[in-house]
Amino acid sequence: MRPDNFIYNEGRLFLENTSIETVVQEIPTPFFLYSNATIEASCEAYTSNIDSSDLVCYSVKANNNLNILKILVKKGLGFDVVSEGELKKVIKAGADPKRIVFSGVGKTFSELKLAADLGIYSINVESAFELEKIIKLETKPRISFRINPDMEGDTHPYIETGKADCKFGMSEEDALLLAKKFSNKDINLVGLTAHIGSQITDTNLYLDLLKKLQSLAEEMENLGHPIDHLDIGGGLAIDYEMQTSFDPSELVKKIKKETGKYDLLLEPGRSIIAQAGALVTEVIGIKENGQRKFIVVNAGMNDLMRPSLYNARHKIENISANEDGETYSIVGPVCETADSFGDDFVISAKEGDNLIIYSAGAYGSSMGSNYNLRLRPSEILVSGTEFSTIRKAESFEDTLKLEDF
Ligand SMILES: Cc1ncc(COP(=O)(O)O)c(C=O)c1O
Repeated sequence: MRPDNFIYNEGRLFLENTSIETVVQEIPTPFFLYSNATIEASCEAYTSNIDSSDLVCYSVKANNNLNILKILVKKGLGFDVVSEGELKKVIKAGADPKRIVFSGVGKTFSELKLAADLGIYSINVESAFELEKIIKLETKPRISFRINPDMEGDTHPYIETGKADCKFGMSEEDALLLAKKFSNKDINLVGLTAHIGSQITDTNLYLDLLKKLQSLAEEMENLGHPIDHLDIGGGLAIDYEMQTSFDPSELVKKIKKETGKYDLLLEPGRSIIAQAGALVTEVIGIKENGQRKFIVVNAGMNDLMRPSLYNARHKIENISANEDGETYSIVGPVCETADSFGDDFVISAKEGDNLIIYSAGAYGSSMGSNYNLRLRPSEILVSGTEFSTIRKAESFEDTLKLEDF
């Protein structure tokens, strides 16, 4: 199995109706390659199963390419942002402030003021100190309390965000204390939000979370706060090894049956964009050390950090040879042993071939860096038989701009 719209035809890999070999002839590797059709389909899996007063707020941290954000605006998505930069970027992409929520454990006063001045749908408040800052604003923005649900998602510790002792959100008890301390004259508390974590495979956890938020919302309403929505965060898994698929439409249908009188808000990131994107990279050379054979490619951990950071395994194939070969470790050129895409790939490849690293649309380019003074790669969007550059490759001069003055 491979992500939708990636198809081998006579041993050559196509994305939609575009041969990836054709793209490689024009665009220097490495580059990220995205499918417009997959992006649109994953948006629809969410939006076609909600009511018009519900919101799907794409989590911008997954991928903040301006041209991808524009597609999402057209598909009717709202946005979940976590910084002033993300907020300004979605506005630039044409987002309606009334469809934006602002999460994050350490928002500054100026970030809160900008969000309030824009009149966004909700500032998701994560602490008492943040609420104190909001009360000092001239306006009374719509806010939600982010609850730390104390739930475990069977996922990597770095993407667990919903356990009691992690930094995100506040406990139900603390949220209630704040709802008692401040009346609806002091604050405009209209929602509750929580995010269990990322790569969640058990969709029943979302139902448990919803129940938790519903009963807390009723308590808040009894205190006079007009709660109008519940936000169950993002985190639906994708399968990086392409053994199964997690269908967002099934999750949304299941949740919608139980939402009750509140509007529903979702914050998916990965499940919108991960499978739409891939990283294309050239084999620089092949070598053997000790018992191991290495394919050294021209993409590294600075381009796609997930394997080094989370030990994540992405499926990798040769764009011109859909056949088994020898067993290799596939590594990048960065001077770190951690710069590896993993061991025991059975693949046929030789110097100069191009490999594709799937499922790189989320937390790929957005987590990229210039480590080892490597240049950030270009991003290319495929639509049917056409492809276009949606982010230019960085040049050496770009990297000097902020220092050479
Ligand atoms: C508050 C919040 N919402 C949504 C997301 C998106 O998660 P995912 O990309 O796994 O859907 C995250 C991810 O860290 C998050 O922290």
